[in-house]
Amino acid sequence: MEVEKIKVAVIGCGVISDIYIQSLQDKFTITDVVACYDLNTDKMNEKAKKYHLKAMSIDDILSDSTIKMIVNLTNPAAHYDVIKSALEHGKNVFSEKMIAVNLDDGKKLCQLAKDKGLRLGVAPDTFLGGGIQTAKYIVDKGLIGTPLSTVVSLNRNFDVYADIFPHMNKKGGTLPFDTGCYYLTALASILGPTKRVSSFGRCYKPDRIGKRVDKPWFGEKSVVADKNILTATLEYQNGVLGTVHFNSESIQNEQICLDIYGTEGILKLGDPNNFNSPNLLLKQQNEPVEFPFTHGYLTNSRGLGAAEMAWSIQNNRPHRASMEMAYHVFELIHGMYISATTDSVYGMKSTFDKPTSLPTGYLDNGFWGPTEESALAF
Ligand SMILES: NC(=O)c1ccc[n+]([C@@H]2O[C@H](COP(=O)([O-])OP(=O)(O)OC[C@H]3O[C@@H](n4cnc5c(N)ncnc54)[C@H](O)[C@@H]3O)[C@@H](O)[C@H]2O)c1
Repeated sequence: MEVEKIKVAVIGCGVISDIYIQSLQDKFTITDVVACYDLNTDKMNEKAKKYHLKAMSIDDILSDSTIKMIVNLTNPAAHYDVIKSALEHGKNVFSEKMIAVNLDDGKKLCQLAKDKGLRLGVAPDTFLGGGIQTAKYIVDKGLIGTPLSTVVSLNRNFDVYADIFPHMNKKGGTLPFDTGCYYLTALASILGPTKRVSSFGRCYKPDRIGKRVDKPWFGEKSVVADKNILTATLEYQNGVLGTVHFNSESIQNEQICLDIYGTEGILKLGDPNNFNSPNLLLKQQNEPVEFPFTHGYLTNSRGLGAAEMAWSIQNNRPHRASMEMAYHVFELIHGMYISATTDSVYGMKSTFDKPTSLPTGYLDNGFWGPTEESALAF
């Protein structure tokens, strides 16, 4: 079946743009990256040269009717304006996380996409990788029985991370937003929407001094603008209860836990920031078993969500990294902060339809196996 490729322009030519452009050019056949833009012309020209793209102004990209999709890889603070103007110019948008910084802005973007009849897809797309798709398979097939509860614990050394990524010092950029979203999106894709959340939080050591000699902010003072230790209790719509622990003041670079407890088994997921996170299945009176992957995309496939959205546009079906799920996770994290500051339980206002699993059995580059088309086209 000959399906027309979707022409894509990438906005934001920073660190993450390489893997996106490589995936959308080489790994996936449905997308054709033709142009790029960055406020920083050196970065824009470098990527344009490296990947044989046209360096174009934002106005030229937005007025080019052959470009159907924008992949937004700017910093979170720019997401709202970039997504808004792309939608206003009739472009479908796939954006890196999070959808915006402020809750209201995220809501406005979803409404705008709906009003315009355009697609808005938002990362993380790692939940489409083999690791989390296998976890979803294990739960959907009843291998842990009925899920009852879940535990998330994400610990990072803020002195390392925030000194490299200073947006983690700012409101809307802290650990729960920047990295916690991978955990909560993985759970959302498996367990569905949350009903309510209750939290406590604290800001430990708000005054910081840049410690990395290789960064322009070395020696500069900064203030951590939000709570950097946060605990939460969640109730999912399906009755599952969750305990969440985000600590960016840990002594280790990264230490994680993502477990789902069921009536007939316990599932220990790997790092949801990766595509190939392994799944450990514990059954009563059995040794833990590392469950074989049921799905493909086990290498770094950032851009998978955008490619899947492109296939879904051409096939006129909903895409899986939906704005509704992304906004719900965004609201959930805001809900934690709201609960922690107002001493109240936050009732979730948004909901979403759980994305269907990708078809099983797809192996990247398996010469006998189904193709990208059969894995992503439905
Ligand atoms: N770096 C990572 O490991 C990583 C991993 C996953 C997701 N992300 C997400 O990807 C996005 C980009 O991250 P990054 O690490 O590549 O950041 P980066 O700072 O390296 O790159 C962002 C680029 O966007 C450009 N930019 C900012 N505002 C713009 C605007 N209005 N118009 C055009 N260009 C603009 C900047 O000049 C910069 O080159 C973020 O949302 C981040 O959360 C990053």
